[in-house]
Parts: sequence; structure tokens; C-alpha cells
Amino acid sequence: MKTQILICVAIVSLAGLCGSNAQTSNDPSLPHLSKQGTATQLVVDGKPFLVLGAELNNSSASSLEYMKPLWPKLVAAHLNTVLATVTWELIEPQEGRFDFNGVDGLLQQARANNLHLVLLWFGSWKNGKSTYQPLWVKTDQKRFPLACSEDGKSMPILTTLSDANRNADARAFAALMRHLREVDGQNHTVLMIQVENEAGILGDTRDYSPAANMAIAGPVPKELIDYLVAHKDTLAPELRNLWATNGFKTSGTWTEVFGPGKPAGMMIPVRTLSPPLTEAEHETGWRNLHWPVDEIFMAWNYARFIGSVAAAGKAEYDIPMYVNAWLQQRDHAWPGTYPSGGPLPQVHDIWRAGAPAIDILAPDLYVPEFEELCARFTRSGNPLFIPESRAGEWGMANAIYAFGTHDAIGYSPFGVDRLAGSDLELARTYDFLSTVAPLILANQGQGTMTAVLVNTNATQSFRLGNYNIEAKFWNPPFYLPATNALPERVAGLFISTGPDDYIVIGRNLVVYFSSATDPAESVGLGTVEEGVYQDGRWVPGRRLNGDETPEWKALRFPSDHYSVQQVKLYQYR
Ligand code: DGJ
Repeated sequence: MKTQILICVAIVSLAGLCGSNAQTSNDPSLPHLSKQGTATQLVVDGKPFLVLGAELNNSSASSLEYMKPLWPKLVAAHLNTVLATVTWELIEPQEGRFDFNGVDGLLQQARANNLHLVLLWFGSWKNGKSTYQPLWVKTDQKRFPLACSEDGKSMPILTTLSDANRNADARAFAALMRHLREVDGQNHTVLMIQVENEAGILGDTRDYSPAANMAIAGPVPKELIDYLVAHKDTLAPELRNLWATNGFKTSGTWTEVFGPGKPAGMMIPVRTLSPPLTEAEHETGWRNLHWPVDEIFMAWNYARFIGSVAAAGKAEYDIPMYVNAWLQQRDHAWPGTYPSGGPLPQVHDIWRAGAPAIDILAPDLYVPEFEELCARFTRSGNPLFIPESRAGEWGMANAIYAFGTHDAIGYSPFGVDRLAGSDLELARTYDFLSTVAPLILANQGQGTMTAVLVNTNATQSFRLGNYNIEAKFWNPPFYLPATNALPERVAGLFISTGPDDYIVIGRNLVVYFSSATDPAESVGLGTVEEGVYQDGRWVPGRRLNGDETPEWKALRFPSDHYSVQQVKLYQYR
């Protein structure tokens, strides 16, 4: 049984006040990011907006005909936002000649279905590789050079160390953003842009092209050193410790400042278990103790490149932009087995220094360590947006946890072409979340809300406001047999609305309260109501008591869907 102690004030993280790049647009009528207490929220048409999203498969949005029958299913899945690709190869088939018919059609289809879009710019990189650049780029490697592995062989990856590569991508992206301003500047169908997709070098620890070899042998750029010096006390511990090990040098080559790179001649195996991670590596969260300089060097170069592309786009149309990370998995010890240089937590500071136009560093969060990764992605005030994850019971519980504990801007399972219509949990939970979204948004960043994840037979304990709360996985007794197979993970979300008052969202949970201010006091349930929120207004349903409040002192939530209850507590001796 895992017990987690959360103190209400602890969720008001001091770290959350520093380090984020989140910017407010110059034009507040456009979708933009805005602070509410310690949270950063997405504001759309003057109101905070919770993205209940899902991402299409990579090729879906390339055909409006393919999309047509999908829209009703997306609506039935109760999404409010669809994440869809816009590809460089389709918008600029010939150099300098742009075709936005597909983009316009996508916008029209989304609007006709009352859905928003987050557009994913598949430009120079997609999952570490370069496959979405137009043919005129692919076939002119002299002008648009590729990265190399250590053996000198070209990799199918555009190098970051080429002005021609960067300028060509930035020009196309700027043209897209200019077009979006023209066709969507009033409507705000498009909320945010993902710039590239899961960038980083895959197949070796770094780019070994001649330009890259020359750059890594040269000095660490002054802009990066200045950033590290200015943020020395708030750097991610992984990076700070590494820099400390090398004597906090403020000048020198990359290896002088950050330690040695991969030994010459060593080939990295693809997707390796070896060397296995030690517990210490896992505990500290620094899962890459192997040649971190290679990853840091690549992070700087990807950040500079993608940051320039984003800045060129923002100069045309200034809406929030993010990059997404292919995460390191537990058995991926070396950079290059996951994209080296992508926006992983160990190099977040490098990305902030190199790409100030990027507002959010986002995790594609499929790995089992969901809570740990949420914490690592938010520790420097980075707003949490999860553009790719899973649906089903595991995914929907995680979404509620991310919204309640980490003030997430949005959540989006991947592969909605298949999920819409087949994943009932997704549809049912998004339907429910859309009713409580205003409540969640009003409490983000205020220190009044938290959420927990509870696995089968587990309990989570924490404090919120004046009470200690215990949320236990509920195993239905014989007289209330469950009509569904029990989920393996559920979420509980808790909002303190007064000294003795809570709103609780849960599923398959029993929730106990005890006094946090005076342990001699016993706690009773004054009144408990279930109900629904309609247009932000509470509409009470049953008054709960008796068997519906186990042992006359707990809230109980049904096992087959999320629901909400309001409780007023009282204390007695
Ligand atoms: C992560 C990528 O970012 C997506 O585009 C997609 O390829 C998925 N992986 C597939 O699982």
C-alpha cells in the first residue's frame, strides 16, 4: 500500500514561480497563457480553457475525405479539442509556393463540429527522424545537410547545425502562421501549435557531422553560460550537479564545462537494457549518467533551431507554442536510444535558455511513472500540457490527477481515430469533465485543490485545508455487487470550498476525513449530496446517507464512472 502525504500548502510550489517561459501574448483577445495564482492557464476568448483533447493518427488530417466520417465520432467522444498535423511537405510542395487548402478544410470541418484544434507542425523532425520535409528538401542534401553518426554516415535526420535548414523550415512555418492569422485571427479555432514532433538525434548520442564536431570542440556559447549563471540556484538538480562536478566552469569547451562525451569508436546499441539503471539513478531521476554532454549539446542546438522557427511563426501570429518530448524509458540508458536533445527534464534549463519563444515543454507520457514525470515536468514552473498519452481507465485517471494536482492545461490520448467510438471510458469521462471543468479551472493555482491516483487496494493520505483525507480504493461488498470489472487505477480530486466544506470527484473510492487541526475531535458527515454541474451551477441529486456513506462516516463513489459529491463536515468530542 502506497501512502502519500500531501500538505495543502505544498501544492503551492515555490519552484512554480520561476523559470517558465510562459508568455502573455501582446493581443489578449488571441488564445494566450495567463497566470492564476501559481498555475498557468490557457485563456480562450477571455476565459480559462481546459483542453479535453485527443490526437489523430499522423496521416489522418492529410485527407479531408478521410476525416469526414470521423468528426461525429470525435464529437461523441466529448472532446473539445483535436490535435491534428499540418505537414511541411503538403503546404510547400514547391519551394516558396504554399497550398493551404488542406488547412482551411480542416478548420472548416472543426468549426462545423464546434471543436477546437491544436495544430502539430511536422516540419524538420518527427520522432527524431526527418520524413516530413518536402521532396525538394529531401533530395538536395548539399543545400539541406543531414546529421551524421560517429562513423561518418549520414542519418535520415536534418542537422540542426545548418542555417539553410533552419531558414527553410522557419519560412514555411511563418507562412503557415501568417495564414492562420488571416483565416483564424477572429475565430480562434486553433488554440496552440506544437512545433516539430519529438525532436532529437536517434541512433547515436549526438550529431557527428563536420559542423557539429567543430561546434562541440568550440566554447559553450556565452548565452548559455549566462543563463546557467543567472539561474544557478533554480537549475534542475541533474544539470546543477553535473555542472558542479565539473567545477561550475563559466567558460571552456563543451566537454570542459559538462564532462566527457561518448568514448570514440563506441557504437550505441539500439534500445538497450545495458547498462541497467541503478536504483540511485532511478531515484535521482537522472536516468542518463552516460555522456550527458552529448545530450546537452544536442538540446542546445535543437532548442536554438526550433526556438528560431517558433519565433518566426510568433512574429506572424502570436499564440502559445510547445514542443513535445519522447521520454527516456527505464531501460533506455543512453541518449540516442531516445531522441538525444529533446526537451526531457534533465535538459529543460538548456531548452529555456535556447528557445525563449517556446512556452511549454510537454511530455508524451506513455511511461508507467506518470506522477513522477508530471512532477519533473512542472518543477521549474513549466506549465503541464500532455499532448500524447493513453485513454482507458489508466489514462482518464491520470488526466484527472494532472488537472487537479499539477494544474494541467490539457490532456490528449493518442490515436483518436481508433479510440473515438471504441473507448467508452474516454467519452464518459470527458463528458463528465466538461461539466466540472469551470470548477477545476477556478481552483487551479489557488492552493484549494489536489488530486490523487489510487491503484487497486491502495490508499492515499494527504491534507487539504482543515482536514486530513484518506482515499481508499473501494472493493464493493456482497450487497452492492459491482456491475463492471474493477478498474486498476482511479483518481480522486478534492476541492476545499470552506473551513468544513469539500467538493470531491471520484470513482471506485471511499473517502475518510479526520481533523488536521485537533486530533481529539471526531469528524462527522454533516450533509452529503451527489449532484451535477449544469453550466457551472450545482444541481443536487440524492441526499446521501446510510449505506451510501459507509460506516456513517465516509463518502463512497460508484465503481463504474466518475461523479461528484458535496460534503459539509462537523466535529464532535
Ligand atoms: C509518438 C509520436 O509523437 C506520434 O506521432 C506517434 O508516432 C506515436 N508515437 C505512435 O505511438
